[in-house]
Amino acid sequence: MELKLSNANPLKARTGCLVLPVGDQKKLISTLALADSESGEYLSKILKQNDLANSPGATLMLHNVPELNAQRVLLVSMGDGKKITSQTFDRITSATALALSSPAIKDCISCLNDFEVDGKDLTWQARSFAQALVSNTYRFELHKSIKATKSAKFEGKATIFVSNRSLNKSVEAGIVQGTAIANGMSLARDLGNTAANVCTPTYLGKKAKKLEKAFPSIKAKLLNEAQMKKLGMGALLSVSAGSVEDAQLICMDYKGAASNKKPVVLVGKGVTFDTGGISIKSSAGMDEMKFDMCGAASVFGVMQSVAEMKLKINVIGVVAAAENMPGSKATKPGDIVTSMSGKTIEVLNTDAEGRLVLCDALTYISKYKPDVVIDIATLTGAVIVALGNHTTGLMSNDDTLADDLYTAGIEAHDKCWRLPLWDEYEKQLSSNFADLANIGGRSAGTITAGCFLANFTKDYKWAHLDIAGVAWKQGGAKGSTGRPVPMLVQYLLNRS
Ligand code: BES
Ligand code: MN
Ligand code: ZN
Repeated sequence: MELKLSNANPLKARTGCLVLPVGDQKKLISTLALADSESGEYLSKILKQNDLANSPGATLMLHNVPELNAQRVLLVSMGDGKKITSQTFDRITSATALALSSPAIKDCISCLNDFEVDGKDLTWQARSFAQALVSNTYRFELHKSIKATKSAKFEGKATIFVSNRSLNKSVEAGIVQGTAIANGMSLARDLGNTAANVCTPTYLGKKAKKLEKAFPSIKAKLLNEAQMKKLGMGALLSVSAGSVEDAQLICMDYKGAASNKKPVVLVGKGVTFDTGGISIKSSAGMDEMKFDMCGAASVFGVMQSVAEMKLKINVIGVVAAAENMPGSKATKPGDIVTSMSGKTIEVLNTDAEGRLVLCDALTYISKYKPDVVIDIATLTGAVIVALGNHTTGLMSNDDTLADDLYTAGIEAHDKCWRLPLWDEYEKQLSSNFADLANIGGRSAGTITAGCFLANFTKDYKWAHLDIAGVAWKQGGAKGSTGRPVPMLVQYLLNRS
């Protein structure tokens, strides 16, 4: 997919499809009004027949409209056109992308910008369109023997019509951002969707090397189990102990600013399959535990987005990758392990493994002297009870960082909501035998998991994103969502 802008009159263009937004169907404006008179009121006649529903995002594809050079005209309803919220506009661009996704349509020109979006500029509008074109035509066919993608997807050239040249810069920025975010989401989705017998810790390590090859601004460094053992990462290694797959600590270093500028460090949970270990999970739906590396996948996605946009910031992406299996060498309930920080941990439940891989990664990254640290993890089923499948759980030891992430989530339509990390909860993690236990009992499971991590993040500003509810969809639409790449990229854009 290729997306650009043009200032040329869209009515004269020889295009596969002219996309015209329709507001008040009785009072046509802008390009639609011009196209209507050019076509001898052909369009208004069709609208009078009520062929286009009034609800925002409804579409009607027309062929051979008289006197227009376009092969097709796609009418897109903007509702009554009075006040278009950003949520509505996203719905409209998604519907447009779906209507365009036919192999017959080789190119298109969009005039959706003829309408203003409440509180958003043209950068945002162009970004919504770019993101929609990529995200809504996403297909995952790695494991299919027959690939249907080529016949089902809009692979053509898209153009955004900009009537006023002085707005070109703004639209251009939106195209760059939207494409980069969508590509980052696609990478995250691909990694999440890949079967766990293929997507192993070693596979993720190779992906990091591929990213390094594709983007000279990214350097990748891998630590194997022997190197982690030397560093004393007893918590992380206790998770991979029962698996034949070696754990990997994957560090990706993106330099977009001067070396003395402190980096943002992202840490992703990369449990490539979570059986629960000896505290084994029940079998129903266990296949979905291949998605237990979606935090890691989002780190990969963000690194790629940032490199594509050449943001002038420094970002380090660290992935703690391990497979959680029961085996003769697996960690057992009651085993006590020593983390890199020196703190001892009683592993009362081997299914609470995410915090074990993360705590050592969170200790390790202090060497980067981070400005802020954000970890991203499919950490607890409890966050789904608290916030459902709509909202990421946010916990933090820094109010400004928490506010900034919340705002970024609102802006990017990829929301999070904060939960407290108060001392009362911390007490639930006390152990009779070690410095702390890895579970905190039945209540407040998401918060006690956050409290566990907080023990290892005292030296820097830190936020934890529990994405167990949002990282993938279940049922017929089963698959990775690419969240929270939009929120994180928005946060980084706001900083740069
Ligand atoms: N990866 C799971 C969390 C999870 C469960 C995400 C279901 C999405 C759906 C995590 O490793 C886990 O098993 N957490 C346990 C923690 C418990 C043992 C304290 C959980 O949530 O049940
Ligand atoms: Mn688990
Ligand atoms: Zn897990």
